[in-house]
Amino acid sequence: MSPGLFCLLGLPFLFCQTTGSLWTSSPTSSSFSDSVFSSSSSSHPGPGSVSQSLSNFTGFEDDHGTCQCSIVLPDTTFPVQRVERLELTAHVLSQKFEKELSKVREYVQLISVYEKKLSNLTIRIEIMEKDTISYTELDFELIKMEVKEMEKLIVQLKGSFVGSTVIVDQLEVEIRNMTLLVEKLETLDKNNVLAIRREILALKTRLKECEASKGDNGPVSPPPPAPGSCGHGGIMNVSKPAVVQLNWRGFAYKYGAWGRDYSPQNPEGGLYWVAPLNTDGRILEYYRLHKTLDDLLLYINAQDYRITYGQGGGTVVYNNYMYVNWYNTGNIAKINLNNNRAEVTQTLPNAAYNNRFSYANVGWQDIDLAVDEQGLWVIYSTEASTGNMVISKLNDTTLVVLNTWYTRQYKPSASNAFMICGVLYATRTLNTKAEEIFYYYDTNTGREGRLAITMQKMQERVQSINYHPIEQKLFVYNDGYLLNYDLIFNQKPK
Ligand SMILES: *[C@@H]1O[C@H](CO)[C@@H](O)[C@H](O)[C@H]1NC(C)=O
Ligand SMILES: *[C@@H]1O[C@H](CO)[C@@H](O)[C@H](O)[C@H]1NC(C)=O
Ligand SMILES: *[C@@H]1O[C@H](CO)[C@@H](O)[C@H](O)[C@H]1NC(C)=O
Ligand SMILES: *[C@@H]1O[C@H](CO)[C@@H](O)[C@H](O)[C@H]1NC(C)=O
Ligand SMILES: *[C@@H]1O[C@H](CO)[C@@H](O)[C@H](O)[C@H]1NC(C)=O
Repeated sequence: MSPGLFCLLGLPFLFCQTTGSLWTSSPTSSSFSDSVFSSSSSSHPGPGSVSQSLSNFTGFEDDHGTCQCSIVLPDTTFPVQRVERLELTAHVLSQKFEKELSKVREYVQLISVYEKKLSNLTIRIEIMEKDTISYTELDFELIKMEVKEMEKLIVQLKGSFVGSTVIVDQLEVEIRNMTLLVEKLETLDKNNVLAIRREILALKTRLKECEASKGDNGPVSPPPPAPGSCGHGGIMNVSKPAVVQLNWRGFAYKYGAWGRDYSPQNPEGGLYWVAPLNTDGRILEYYRLHKTLDDLLLYINAQDYRITYGQGGGTVVYNNYMYVNWYNTGNIAKINLNNNRAEVTQTLPNAAYNNRFSYANVGWQDIDLAVDEQGLWVIYSTEASTGNMVISKLNDTTLVVLNTWYTRQYKPSASNAFMICGVLYATRTLNTKAEEIFYYYDTNTGREGRLAITMQKMQERVQSINYHPIEQKLFVYNDGYLLNYDLIFNQKPK
């Protein structure tokens, strides 16, 4: 059957010489001759003409009367198999090509994504290089400063001890070890900062205990009053500063404020807030909130907000509202921390503003808000007060002034001020290393007077001081660094 197959497949010119009689006379002929040739023969002209056009074929009838026809194909046999193979190869090739092409397209897409990522990274690195700092390095620098402080203290302590110094010696070794540990950990990630902070805290507590156990040799700190209580006689002393961190916007942001929200209804809670001013030292545009101190320390889980605009570093947070002096005005704005909306804006009557009576070394803080056990206060000056400090108690709902006290302290000669239990405390600069709480005004009694409580500082200028009634700590913004001070109160109420 292969010749027939050939006919069907691709040889239109198949010449076959046959004996005419057979086509009709042999019913037993093969299907080949029957179906193909006999049917077509009807359309042919007569058998005579067929034999003329058909040539070079020899056909014969075999013993069984079947027509046998052998076809001799020319040398140039049509290479059907090769064509088939070729076709197949071409098909496979084109499939492969398609596949490769689609891969290329995929790669092109990927490359453009990577290109974008790369340019993003470049931008981020540029920003990091320019503005921000390696927090890891920085935190370790600060911790080193603190450990050094402790080392100094232990040396002092050792000198003042008479007799057995076993405990002190042991503490000294531990503090030395801590120095080594900090140096080792510097190469690792910043999560260690937390662990070290806890260890430092534990060491500090033991140092304090050790100091207290010295007995009658030195001054004894009275037991602290209950958190939020005013059953004490005012500030007696402040601790050395603890450096919490550099503000989240970096070295360049030397002006600002920070603190912790105080809500009388939820005294133990309270967001940590950090509000560095723009580098002009005037505009408050961005602030950041953290739910916990750990988050603050690690610069994580922060909520960042933008306002347009606050002015100066007199900001406070009370009862989940931020209170700020509104830009270029004598107004106070009350911003809901849940949605960052300024819900109330109120003019502070007669208040001087826009650098008329700010603090020494700190601009744009003519209107300095404060929070203590009794609520919301504002410290400012008026033309009538000739620049002396004026204290007003505010209704924190409406920002209306409830009561006002006039002091005899010139505001621009103080470096800052804060309120504790209705008493205003003002600071002044002693030198580049120390401030002094030098003045108080008690709104409960109307008394005012001098104090001399030294506050060490890490950097030259104190930008703002805020108080938290439950922690009984000062939150100080010191040229971009966030500091905490513990307060020691006089035992007997005055
Ligand atoms: C037929 O075959 C013979 C030899 O077998 C050859 O000489 C002749 O040229 C062929 N004729 C045609 C038309 O191919
Ligand atoms: C590039 O950064 C922007 C914002 O910084 C971000 O929205 C975007 O998804 C980033 N693109 C890529 C490809 O990472
Ligand atoms: C201090 O470190 C040394 C070696 O690293 C260790 O043997 C010693 O126990 C450590 N001392 C204390 C008190 O942790
Ligand atoms: C006040 O505290 C500082 C730092 O802790 C300390 O050096 C100083 O002796 C204290 N002063 C008094 C009077 O207790
Ligand atoms: C503050 O103002 C609100 C609203 O007018 C009032 O309900 C509240 O009693 C005031 N608080 C004080 C302490 O005056």
